[in-house]
Amino acid sequence: MATETHLAPLTQVLAEEHRLIQRTVVLLARYCARLRHGGEVDAALGRQFLRFFRVFAAHHMRREEQVLFPWVRSHGDPENDAAVAVLLAEHGESRELISALQSVLEALAESPEAIEPRACFCAFGERYARLLSEHDWKEDHLLYPLADFLDAASHDLQAHCPEGFVSCLEDPDEFSRWVDDVEALAWAWPREEVDLHADPRGRDHGHLENEPPLQDPT
Ligand SMILES: [Fe+2]
Ligand SMILES: [Fe+2]
Repeated sequence: MATETHLAPLTQVLAEEHRLIQRTVVLLARYCARLRHGGEVDAALGRQFLRFFRVFAAHHMRREEQVLFPWVRSHGDPENDAAVAVLLAEHGESRELISALQSVLEALAESPEAIEPRACFCAFGERYARLLSEHDWKEDHLLYPLADFLDAASHDLQAHCPEGFVSCLEDPDEFSRWVDDVEALAWAWPREEVDLHADPRGRDHGHLENEPPLQDPT
């Protein structure tokens, strides 16, 4: 089984994973906008979106929950505890939304012309996209810098895994290639009405150039 070893700090690995998650979240929101405009239902593509979130994003969240969040909480600051509790609740909400999307996608695949499953898929998908966009922004700009600051003196976080962090995937580039393919497929999908809480680093990839200026979600 092929694996890739990241000899980078955990926060750096997680921030890189956010870039792929955010590219996919933008695509999901644009796919929902396309469906709202009466675009053809592509159930196979819908299942691919859900697979990405169930495998790649879920692994990312598990690593935060098993390593990063407990480590931040171990420092005993009540404000940090409260912030982590909010992030954990958002992970829970994202899982509920993926389950809801899974159910409604099968109903949509069965009846592509029916109004209700299409409207539900779009509502759940857009809610998921907004949630993860804001959630990842908070982690990128608040939690990960806090963890880096706390770790600067002790290097205790990195000591959890001194050899680096290993990808869970048999082929670590599988999802990266898939996102490239979907972005190529999506060249004509609606873009201007997708209003997410953009990470400015996403603009480096040229995918979020029409996003609004950043606003602090807190
Ligand atoms: Fe998270
Ligand atoms: Fe994250």
